[in-house]
Amino acid sequence: MLADKRIAIVGLGKIGGTLARGLVQRRVVPAKNLAGSTAHEATAQEASKRYGIEVHTDNAKLVQGRDIVILAVKPQSMARVLEEIRSHTDPQQLVITLAAAITTRFVEEGLQQEISVVRAMPNTPCLVGQGMTVLCPGRFATPEHVEIAREIFAAVGRVEVIDNEELMDAVTGLSGSGPAYCYIMIESLAEGGVKVGLPRELATLLAAQSMLGAAQMVLETGEHPAKLKDAVTTPAGTTVDGLLELEAGGVRVSLIKAVDRATQKSKELSR
Ligand SMILES: NC(=O)c1ccc[n+]([C@@H]2O[C@H](COP(=O)([O-])OP(=O)(O)OC[C@H]3O[C@@H](n4cnc5c(N)ncnc54)[C@H](OP(=O)(O)O)[C@@H]3O)[C@@H](O)[C@H]2O)c1
Repeated sequence: MLADKRIAIVGLGKIGGTLARGLVQRRVVPAKNLAGSTAHEATAQEASKRYGIEVHTDNAKLVQGRDIVILAVKPQSMARVLEEIRSHTDPQQLVITLAAAITTRFVEEGLQQEISVVRAMPNTPCLVGQGMTVLCPGRFATPEHVEIAREIFAAVGRVEVIDNEELMDAVTGLSGSGPAYCYIMIESLAEGGVKVGLPRELATLLAAQSMLGAAQMVLETGEHPAKLKDAVTTPAGTTVDGLLELEAGGVRVSLIKAVDRATQKSKELSR
């Protein structure tokens, strides 16, 4: 569906660049059909070399005649970017917005058109093809538009679709911010390994691979995590003592509160 589409990525930063790399490397889109933009001439030249695509600093020029426009700038730059591209977009195009807390309605209104908008919330593991992206269509987006967006993000990981846009704040608080929570857990587990005598590099590997393996078990077996945890926990064994320390440290409540607080922050930013 994408091979002959001309795609523009406005904002080739961390997430926009990751997407550009994923689409080209996995041959979802030929490099000649993809172009992007940055704010500065120096970063544009650097991005052009890095991703092997055409890169502009003029957004109006970039989006003209493109089938799909992906908006990957910071939320605070969005109003200005929409104003810049407004008279160079048309309702034949599909607009995909990645910015946290920016609603599909904000984009539609900013473009002053009844245009198809799909909101996407990816995360940074897209960089290694293990991203988690949640999509939500705006008022004028059809199921076909959602499928096009799905194809784009499937190049860099898993994709889910929801139709209640209010839940995008919760998605931001869980999978958007989630990798940061996991890094803290890996870092802390590795610190524990160092405390009991493991070299740091080995401790980090053991922690990260345990996290990856556990995640894979949840995804592949479809079992409830509590059941998988019980299977590791031998009566009067070592794990139960470790679990007791986690409970005493309130790790569950901390994680629940982290998702809740990040979701609230996303809601506040939306306002
Ligand atoms: N990072 C994540 O994990 C993640 C996950 C989900 C969603 N998002 C969303 O994705 C968006 C980008 O985040 P990021 O982390 O990728 O930010 P970033 O690394 O700071 O990248 C922003 C990019 O936008 C460019 N830019 C700024 N103003 C521009 C303009 N007027 N026209 C064209 N390009 C412009 C910047 O160019 P210069 O380098 O020249 O300044 C830079 O390349 C945010 O809205 C964020 O909410 C990020």
